[in-house]
Amino acid sequence: MKACVIGHPITQSKSPIIHNYWMNMNNIEGTYQAIDITPENLKDGIEKLISENYKGFNITAPHKQNIMQFCNEMDDVARLIGAVNTVRIEGGKLYGTNTDAFGFIQNIKENSDFDFTDKKILVLGAGGAARAILYGLIQAGVSEIILTNRTMQTATDLAKNFNANITVAPWEKRAELLSDIDLLVNTTSLGMQGKPPLDMDLSRLNPTALVNDIVYAPLMTPLLTQAKSRGNKTVTGIGMLLHQARPAFAAWTGITPEVTAELESLVLA
Ligand code: ATR
Repeated sequence: MKACVIGHPITQSKSPIIHNYWMNMNNIEGTYQAIDITPENLKDGIEKLISENYKGFNITAPHKQNIMQFCNEMDDVARLIGAVNTVRIEGGKLYGTNTDAFGFIQNIKENSDFDFTDKKILVLGAGGAARAILYGLIQAGVSEIILTNRTMQTATDLAKNFNANITVAPWEKRAELLSDIDLLVNTTSLGMQGKPPLDMDLSRLNPTALVNDIVYAPLMTPLLTQAKSRGNKTVTGIGMLLHQARPAFAAWTGITPEVTAELESLVLA
Protein backbone atom coordinates (compact mmCIF):
# COMPACT_ATOMS: atom_id res chain seq x y z
CA MET A 1 0.00 0.00 0.00
CA LYS A 2 1.62 3.20 -1.15
CA ALA A 3 0.38 6.60 0.02
CA CYS A 4 2.01 9.94 0.75
CA VAL A 5 1.56 13.58 1.63
CA ILE A 6 2.49 16.22 -0.94
CA GLY A 7 3.36 19.85 -0.24
CA HIS A 8 6.09 22.46 -0.59
CA PRO A 9 7.93 22.60 1.76
CA ILE A 10 7.05 19.27 3.33
CA THR A 11 9.76 18.47 5.90
CA GLN A 12 7.57 19.66 8.80
CA SER A 13 4.71 17.24 8.04
CA LYS A 14 3.64 14.90 10.84
CA SER A 15 1.45 12.83 8.52
CA PRO A 16 4.09 10.12 7.84
CA ILE A 17 4.34 9.41 11.59
CA ILE A 18 0.56 9.09 11.87
CA HIS A 19 -0.02 6.89 8.82
CA ASN A 20 2.99 4.64 9.38
CA TYR A 21 1.82 4.11 12.98
CA TRP A 22 -1.63 3.01 11.76
CA MET A 23 -0.16 0.77 9.04
CA ASN A 24 1.91 -0.97 11.73
CA MET A 25 -1.08 -1.26 14.08
CA ASN A 26 -3.21 -2.79 11.32
CA ASN A 27 -0.49 -5.05 9.84
CA ILE A 28 -0.63 -3.27 6.50
CA GLU A 29 2.58 -3.47 4.53
CA GLY A 30 3.41 -0.30 2.73
CA THR A 31 4.91 3.14 2.77
CA TYR A 32 3.63 6.61 3.53
CA GLN A 33 6.20 9.27 2.70
CA ALA A 34 6.33 13.04 2.56
CA ILE A 35 7.01 14.12 -1.04
CA ASP A 36 8.05 17.64 -1.90
CA ILE A 37 6.27 18.82 -5.05
CA THR A 38 6.59 22.42 -6.19
CA PRO A 39 3.52 24.23 -7.61
CA GLU A 40 5.06 24.12 -11.13
CA ASN A 41 5.45 20.35 -10.90
CA LEU A 42 2.04 19.53 -9.43
CA LYS A 43 0.56 17.93 -12.58
CA ASP A 44 3.66 15.82 -13.31
CA GLY A 45 3.98 14.91 -9.65
CA ILE A 46 0.43 13.57 -9.50
CA GLU A 47 0.82 11.64 -12.75
CA LYS A 48 3.89 9.97 -11.26
CA LEU A 49 1.89 8.90 -8.19
CA ILE A 50 -0.80 7.40 -10.44
CA SER A 51 1.75 5.54 -12.56
CA GLU A 52 3.45 4.21 -9.44
CA ASN A 53 0.16 2.76 -8.19
CA TYR A 54 -0.32 4.97 -5.17
CA LYS A 55 -3.64 4.32 -3.36
CA GLY A 56 -3.93 7.97 -2.48
CA PHE A 57 -2.31 11.00 -0.92
CA ASN A 58 -2.82 13.90 1.43
CA ILE A 59 -2.34 17.46 0.28
CA THR A 60 -0.92 20.29 2.33
CA ALA A 61 0.12 23.87 1.61
CA PRO A 62 0.31 25.29 -1.01
CA HIS A 63 -1.64 22.74 -3.10
CA LYS A 64 -5.00 22.35 -1.33
CA GLN A 65 -6.82 24.52 -3.86
CA ASN A 66 -4.77 23.81 -6.99
CA ILE A 67 -5.25 20.07 -6.64
CA MET A 68 -8.99 20.50 -7.27
CA GLN A 69 -8.55 20.99 -11.04
CA PHE A 70 -6.90 17.54 -11.27
CA CYS A 71 -9.63 15.67 -9.37
CA ASN A 72 -11.98 13.58 -11.54
CA GLU A 73 -14.56 13.73 -8.76
CA MET A 74 -14.96 15.70 -5.55
CA ASP A 75 -17.49 15.26 -2.79
CA ASP A 76 -19.75 18.02 -1.44
CA VAL A 77 -17.51 18.62 1.58
CA ALA A 78 -14.50 19.42 -0.61
CA ARG A 79 -16.62 21.56 -2.92
CA LEU A 80 -18.13 23.60 -0.07
CA ILE A 81 -14.83 24.04 1.74
CA GLY A 82 -13.18 24.86 -1.57
CA ALA A 83 -10.11 22.76 -0.85
CA VAL A 84 -9.01 19.13 -1.03
CA ASN A 85 -6.72 17.57 1.57
CA THR A 86 -7.25 13.90 0.72
CA VAL A 87 -7.25 12.09 -2.63
CA ARG A 88 -8.05 8.44 -3.25
CA ILE A 89 -6.74 6.98 -6.50
CA GLU A 90 -8.79 4.29 -8.19
CA GLY A 91 -8.53 3.13 -11.79
CA GLY A 92 -6.21 6.04 -12.54
CA LYS A 93 -8.85 8.51 -11.38
CA LEU A 94 -8.59 10.98 -8.48
CA TYR A 95 -11.38 11.27 -5.91
CA GLY A 96 -11.00 14.33 -3.69
CA THR A 97 -12.40 15.08 -0.27
CA ASN A 98 -11.60 17.28 2.70
CA THR A 99 -11.26 15.81 6.20
CA ASP A 100 -10.24 19.00 8.06
CA ALA A 101 -13.77 19.87 9.23
CA PHE A 102 -14.22 16.33 10.55
CA GLY A 103 -10.87 16.59 12.35
CA PHE A 104 -11.78 19.88 13.95
CA ILE A 105 -15.21 18.76 15.22
CA GLN A 106 -14.02 15.32 16.31
CA ASN A 107 -11.13 16.80 18.30
CA ILE A 108 -13.53 18.91 20.37
CA LYS A 109 -16.06 16.08 20.74
CA GLU A 110 -13.44 13.62 21.97
CA ASN A 111 -11.69 16.05 24.31
CA SER A 112 -14.55 17.94 25.96
CA ASP A 113 -18.25 17.57 26.76
CA PHE A 114 -19.10 20.42 24.35
CA ASP A 115 -22.38 20.07 22.45
CA PHE A 116 -22.41 22.24 19.30
CA THR A 117 -26.19 22.44 18.97
CA ASP A 118 -27.50 26.04 19.09
CA LYS A 119 -24.20 27.46 20.33
CA LYS A 120 -22.59 30.84 19.67
CA ILE A 121 -19.02 30.66 18.39
CA LEU A 122 -16.29 33.27 17.95
CA VAL A 123 -13.84 32.35 15.19
CA LEU A 124 -10.53 34.24 14.93
CA GLY A 125 -9.00 34.21 11.44
CA ALA A 126 -10.38 33.72 7.95
CA GLY A 127 -7.72 31.70 6.10
CA GLY A 128 -7.83 28.17 4.70
CA ALA A 129 -8.21 26.53 8.11
CA ALA A 130 -11.10 28.83 9.04
CA ARG A 131 -12.94 27.80 5.89
CA ALA A 132 -13.02 24.14 6.91
CA ILE A 133 -13.83 25.06 10.51
CA LEU A 134 -16.82 27.21 9.55
CA TYR A 135 -18.14 24.35 7.44
CA GLY A 136 -17.70 21.94 10.36
CA LEU A 137 -19.40 24.27 12.85
CA ILE A 138 -22.40 24.81 10.57
CA GLN A 139 -22.77 21.06 9.94
CA ALA A 140 -22.53 20.44 13.67
CA GLY A 141 -25.57 22.66 14.25
CA VAL A 142 -24.28 25.87 15.86
CA SER A 143 -26.76 28.75 15.80
CA GLU A 144 -24.46 31.76 15.44
CA ILE A 145 -20.88 32.43 14.32
CA ILE A 146 -18.99 35.68 14.83
CA LEU A 147 -16.04 35.84 12.44
CA THR A 148 -13.19 38.28 12.93
CA ASN A 149 -9.98 38.68 10.98
CA ARG A 150 -7.13 41.20 10.73
CA THR A 151 -8.13 41.79 7.11
CA MET A 152 -11.86 42.30 7.48
CA GLN A 153 -12.63 41.95 3.77
CA THR A 154 -11.27 38.39 3.78
CA ALA A 155 -13.73 37.53 6.55
CA THR A 156 -16.62 39.18 4.69
CA ASP A 157 -15.75 37.24 1.51
CA LEU A 158 -15.45 33.97 3.44
CA ALA A 159 -18.76 34.41 5.27
CA LYS A 160 -20.56 34.89 1.92
CA ASN A 161 -19.66 31.32 0.94
CA PHE A 162 -21.92 29.89 3.59
CA ASN A 163 -25.66 30.12 3.89
CA ALA A 164 -25.53 30.48 7.66
CA ASN A 165 -25.82 32.97 10.52
CA ILE A 166 -22.29 34.44 10.32
CA THR A 167 -21.60 38.00 11.50
CA VAL A 168 -18.29 39.65 10.61
CA ALA A 169 -16.75 41.85 13.31
CA PRO A 170 -13.70 44.17 13.23
CA TRP A 171 -10.45 42.61 14.52
CA GLU A 172 -9.94 45.54 16.93
CA LYS A 173 -13.21 44.60 18.68
CA ARG A 174 -12.28 40.96 19.31
CA ALA A 175 -11.91 41.30 23.08
CA GLU A 176 -15.39 42.84 23.33
CA LEU A 177 -17.13 39.87 21.73
CA LEU A 178 -16.36 37.36 24.45
CA SER A 179 -18.99 37.74 27.14
CA ASP A 180 -21.78 35.57 25.70
CA ILE A 181 -19.96 33.09 23.47
CA ASP A 182 -19.88 29.33 24.08
CA LEU A 183 -16.71 28.55 22.12
CA LEU A 184 -13.66 30.58 21.09
CA VAL A 185 -11.51 29.17 18.28
CA ASN A 186 -8.17 30.53 17.08
CA THR A 187 -7.63 29.54 13.43
CA THR A 188 -4.80 32.02 12.82
CA SER A 189 -1.15 31.06 12.93
CA LEU A 190 -0.57 33.43 15.87
CA GLY A 191 0.84 31.68 18.93
CA MET A 192 2.75 29.15 16.84
CA GLN A 193 6.47 28.65 17.55
CA GLY A 194 8.34 31.44 15.78
CA LYS A 195 5.21 33.57 15.32
CA PRO A 196 4.00 36.38 17.59
CA PRO A 197 1.52 35.36 20.27
CA LEU A 198 -2.16 36.08 19.70
CA ASP A 199 -2.86 39.40 21.40
CA MET A 200 -6.20 38.61 23.01
CA ASP A 201 -7.46 40.01 26.31
CA LEU A 202 -9.73 37.35 27.80
CA SER A 203 -10.89 39.38 30.80
CA ARG A 204 -14.45 39.54 29.43
CA LEU A 205 -14.61 35.86 28.43
CA ASN A 206 -17.75 33.95 29.43
CA PRO A 207 -16.55 31.70 32.31
CA THR A 208 -18.35 28.68 30.80
CA ALA A 209 -16.87 29.14 27.30
CA LEU A 210 -14.60 26.47 25.85
CA VAL A 211 -11.38 27.67 24.18
CA ASN A 212 -9.72 25.81 21.28
CA ASP A 213 -6.56 26.67 19.38
CA ILE A 214 -5.72 24.91 16.14
CA VAL A 215 -2.03 25.70 16.71
CA TYR A 216 -0.37 22.64 18.32
CA ALA A 217 3.29 23.70 18.48
CA PRO A 218 3.46 24.58 21.31
CA LEU A 219 0.64 22.41 22.58
CA MET A 220 -0.33 24.94 25.24
CA THR A 221 -0.35 28.22 23.31
CA PRO A 222 -0.36 31.54 25.18
CA LEU A 223 -4.11 31.75 24.38
CA LEU A 224 -4.86 28.36 25.97
CA THR A 225 -2.64 29.11 28.96
CA GLN A 226 -4.47 32.38 29.56
CA ALA A 227 -7.89 30.70 29.21
CA LYS A 228 -6.91 27.88 31.56
CA SER A 229 -5.61 30.28 34.19
CA ARG A 230 -9.02 31.97 34.15
CA GLY A 231 -10.68 28.62 34.82
CA ASN A 232 -12.04 28.09 31.29
CA LYS A 233 -11.97 24.66 29.71
CA THR A 234 -9.53 24.24 26.82
CA VAL A 235 -8.90 21.82 23.95
CA THR A 236 -5.49 21.81 22.23
CA GLY A 237 -4.94 21.65 18.48
CA ILE A 238 -3.14 18.32 18.17
CA GLY A 239 -6.37 16.32 18.01
CA MET A 240 -7.47 18.13 14.84
CA LEU A 241 -4.32 16.93 13.07
CA LEU A 242 -4.79 13.37 14.36
CA HIS A 243 -8.51 13.11 13.65
CA GLN A 244 -8.36 14.60 10.13
CA ALA A 245 -6.00 11.75 9.25
CA ARG A 246 -8.53 9.02 10.18
CA PRO A 247 -10.91 9.34 7.20
CA ALA A 248 -7.87 9.74 4.93
CA PHE A 249 -6.41 6.43 6.13
CA ALA A 250 -9.88 4.89 5.70
CA ALA A 251 -10.09 6.25 2.13
CA TRP A 252 -7.18 4.12 0.98
CA THR A 253 -7.33 1.12 3.34
CA GLY A 254 -11.01 0.77 4.24
CA ILE A 255 -10.02 0.79 7.92
CA THR A 256 -10.98 3.68 10.21
CA PRO A 257 -8.14 3.84 12.73
CA GLU A 258 -8.16 5.10 16.30
CA VAL A 259 -6.33 8.03 17.84
CA THR A 260 -4.39 6.67 20.81
CA ALA A 261 -2.36 8.36 23.54
CA GLU A 262 0.69 6.53 22.15
CA LEU A 263 0.15 8.07 18.70
CA GLU A 264 -0.31 11.52 20.22
CA SER A 265 2.99 11.30 22.09
CA LEU A 266 4.79 10.02 18.98
CA VAL A 267 3.55 13.04 17.01
CA LEU A 268 4.43 15.48 19.77
CA ALA A 269 7.90 14.02 20.41
P1 ATR B 1 -4.21 28.75 7.10
O1 ATR B 1 -4.43 28.07 5.77
O2 ATR B 1 -3.36 27.96 8.05
O3 ATR B 1 -5.49 29.22 7.74
P2 ATR B 1 -3.64 31.33 6.01
O4 ATR B 1 -4.65 31.05 4.95
O5 ATR B 1 -2.36 31.96 5.61
O6 ATR B 1 -3.28 30.01 6.79
O7 ATR B 1 -4.35 32.22 7.14
C1 ATR B 1 -3.65 32.76 8.17
C2 ATR B 1 -4.63 33.50 9.09
O8 ATR B 1 -3.88 34.05 10.15
C3 ATR B 1 -5.36 34.64 8.41
O9 ATR B 1 -6.64 34.80 9.00
C4 ATR B 1 -4.45 35.83 8.75
O10 ATR B 1 -5.09 37.09 8.72
P3 ATR B 1 -5.09 37.98 7.34
O11 ATR B 1 -6.22 37.45 6.51
O12 ATR B 1 -5.31 39.36 7.81
O13 ATR B 1 -3.75 37.78 6.70
C5 ATR B 1 -4.08 35.48 10.15
N1 ATR B 1 -2.84 36.15 10.57
C6 ATR B 1 -1.58 35.86 10.21
N2 ATR B 1 -0.70 36.70 10.82
C7 ATR B 1 -1.44 37.55 11.57
C8 ATR B 1 -1.13 38.67 12.45
N3 ATR B 1 0.13 39.05 12.67
N4 ATR B 1 -2.16 39.30 13.07
C9 ATR B 1 -3.45 38.90 12.86
N5 ATR B 1 -3.79 37.86 12.05
C10 ATR B 1 -2.82 37.21 11.42
